[in-house]
Amino acid sequence: MPTHSPWRADFPGILALEAEGQTYLDSAATAQKPRAMLDALLGYYTGGAANVHRAQHLPGERATRAFEATREKVAQWLNAPGAEQIVFTRSATEAFNLLAYGLEQRLQPGDEIVISALEHHANLLPWQQLALRRQLKLVVLPLDSHGLIDLTHAGQLISSRTRLLAVSQLSNVLGCWQPLQPLLALAKAQGALTVVDGTQGVVHGRHDVQALGCDFYICSSHKLYGPDGVGLLYGRPQALEQLAHWQFGGEMLLHTDYASASFRAAPLGFEAGTPPIASVIALGASLDYLNNLDASAVSAHEAALHAELQAGLQQRQGMRLLGTPNVALASFVVEGVHHADLAHLLSEQGIAVRAGHHCAMPLLHGLGLSGAIRVSLGLYNDSADLRRFFAALDQALELLQ
Ligand SMILES: Cc1ncc(COP(=O)(O)O)c(C=O)c1O
Repeated sequence: MPTHSPWRADFPGILALEAEGQTYLDSAATAQKPRAMLDALLGYYTGGAANVHRAQHLPGERATRAFEATREKVAQWLNAPGAEQIVFTRSATEAFNLLAYGLEQRLQPGDEIVISALEHHANLLPWQQLALRRQLKLVVLPLDSHGLIDLTHAGQLISSRTRLLAVSQLSNVLGCWQPLQPLLALAKAQGALTVVDGTQGVVHGRHDVQALGCDFYICSSHKLYGPDGVGLLYGRPQALEQLAHWQFGGEMLLHTDYASASFRAAPLGFEAGTPPIASVIALGASLDYLNNLDASAVSAHEAALHAELQAGLQQRQGMRLLGTPNVALASFVVEGVHHADLAHLLSEQGIAVRAGHHCAMPLLHGLGLSGAIRVSLGLYNDSADLRRFFAALDQALELLQ
């Protein structure tokens, strides 16, 4: 059954790209934005910009109220108990770095940090570099043949030496939900801190950080139909208290003289300097927009796109699909065809997909690949986009195979 997106017209970017002959199938890299978000962005600047948390004047109060309202909305979106548990960073990547620096002094040589073989570089490199700085061991959980973190190995590798587990909820390459609950339970049984990379997961359905029971949950605005320049870090109060301050400057302090200083607790103690005010306010508008959609209609639409994408890929000869995706995101290679050649021919036909290692170089190498093509859809995509993609794919494969 062909699917039509009733929300497509809400996204000027997707319409503009379509008018230009571009089919956008790269939403896992960054999503197009709803008009409501663009209006909020423009409204903030045209209504009079002002800095937050420091001015007594009316524009400053107004900006602070709108900025803090987004913190409330994010807390509600994730079902965090309170807005003070949400820290705004400049990206998900910065949030991982915040944790790695913030926890550094708590870790001793020989301690172990556990990640998995499918992590995005953002959830690999901050820990790898921390391990090098502090002589820690970075333990990598292997995957099973479906692309899921292998629980039997996890049971052996997560041990009393494990001080922190950091794993992805949904792989940006394999598109499959990871077995978070048992993994978090294994780590918690050892008294380890738990970090969930929700950057892709948060985009599909609603997630409850309290039900998950993780210490930290990280995601970014720009994949969640919000503006770029904003990352989100949720922390349990007891976990946030363990973080040392890491970036220093305006607004994050309580008192300073020339010799020493004392600092605020989270969240403001971890938001040094002027934050991305306009983007945070506009993220609030994206969340309002998403909240007003019929959630079951969105998930039915995404499930239909997922099914159509899977069926279409599986019908093509020589197709090797990576993992077993649960959402409308699929990475693949085709036997005898270099992914870069295929990407080139697809983009010549106006198909915007991602090609390469997808910021998960060790995962791709582990699969024996230097790269793959990834197709990822948003709620504005429809069957017509997929038809254009498959027509272009067939044409490219006819030339290359
Ligand atoms: C799974 C995953 N984690 C982390 C990130 C990093 O997000 P950002 O680039 O917004 O910092 C990404 C972005 O592609 C991602 O897909």
